[in-house]
Amino acid sequence: MGFPVKAFNSGLDYCAKPEDIFVCSYPKCGTTWLQNMVYLILNDGVPLSLDQFLPRVFPHLEEVGKEVCNQLPTPRLIKTHLPFSITPHNSKARYLYVARNPFDCAVSFFHHTRGFPQHYDFLDGEFEEFFECFIAGEVDFGDYFDNLIPWYKRKDDENVLFITYESMKADSYRSIMAIADFLEVEIFKNKKMIDSIIKYSSFDAMQKNQTRWASLRSDTVEPFIRKGIVGDWVNYFTPKQTHRLLEKYFYKTKGTGIDNLWLDVLESATKNN
Ligand code: A3P
Repeated sequence: MGFPVKAFNSGLDYCAKPEDIFVCSYPKCGTTWLQNMVYLILNDGVPLSLDQFLPRVFPHLEEVGKEVCNQLPTPRLIKTHLPFSITPHNSKARYLYVARNPFDCAVSFFHHTRGFPQHYDFLDGEFEEFFECFIAGEVDFGDYFDNLIPWYKRKDDENVLFITYESMKADSYRSIMAIADFLEVEIFKNKKMIDSIIKYSSFDAMQKNQTRWASLRSDTVEPFIRKGIVGDWVNYFTPKQTHRLLEKYFYKTKGTGIDNLWLDVLESATKNN
């Protein structure tokens, strides 16, 4: 992933504060989108200014290390892809976890991996090759399901909000209200503010300002805010790949309730393999 080892190790040592707000996820599941929503909700719907960058305002713990996070104003806004077991814990801190169906996540991750040639050396990589790494869990932050399952099990904890990319897409108003409620920010009476949060967190608004969101790494050759849809996976997966990921999905998530999470996607994948 190309993060400095020192920063990564220091990030693991971060001591979470009661006021902290963490946005947690497996990569490519809508992290940046959720971060922006959280930022807008906490800032009265006023977007980042032209000279502000999300990775500075809302840094990635494992990329920057604890020293940078310790300097943040309260409440500290922190992004992490760490698994639940090693995410810095405080029973009063808030954790928002965003999940996305693994098919679209894999496609988004494929483009991401092609997008940072200096880090992954995969500029001309094919989906077929990336898929093998993804299904084996041999990508940044390891296996998709190993990240998702422990967080899903925490979804009813008082200080955890579990949300899906697909639900944010289907009804951004409802998602924003749920996030604001979780953060205990009263926005429900302020229509102007809600409209502003919806507007500035929309795909179109975010796509216009690519440099504001991307990682601090500067070598990206693919847009970070790329396509932003549910179902792009059908353009990449062969029936065999669909079958293999479905099989892994059901095997890994059996008895967890996750098998009910993306019924539409699962139904269409089942028809396609
Ligand atoms: P795609 O590559 O499928 O377009 P992350 O922030 O976790 O890296 O996730 C990136 C994915 O979220 C990308 O998916 C990106 O386009 C999508 N995304 C970012 N902002 C979005 C928005 N406002 N609406 C919908 N999708 C968004």
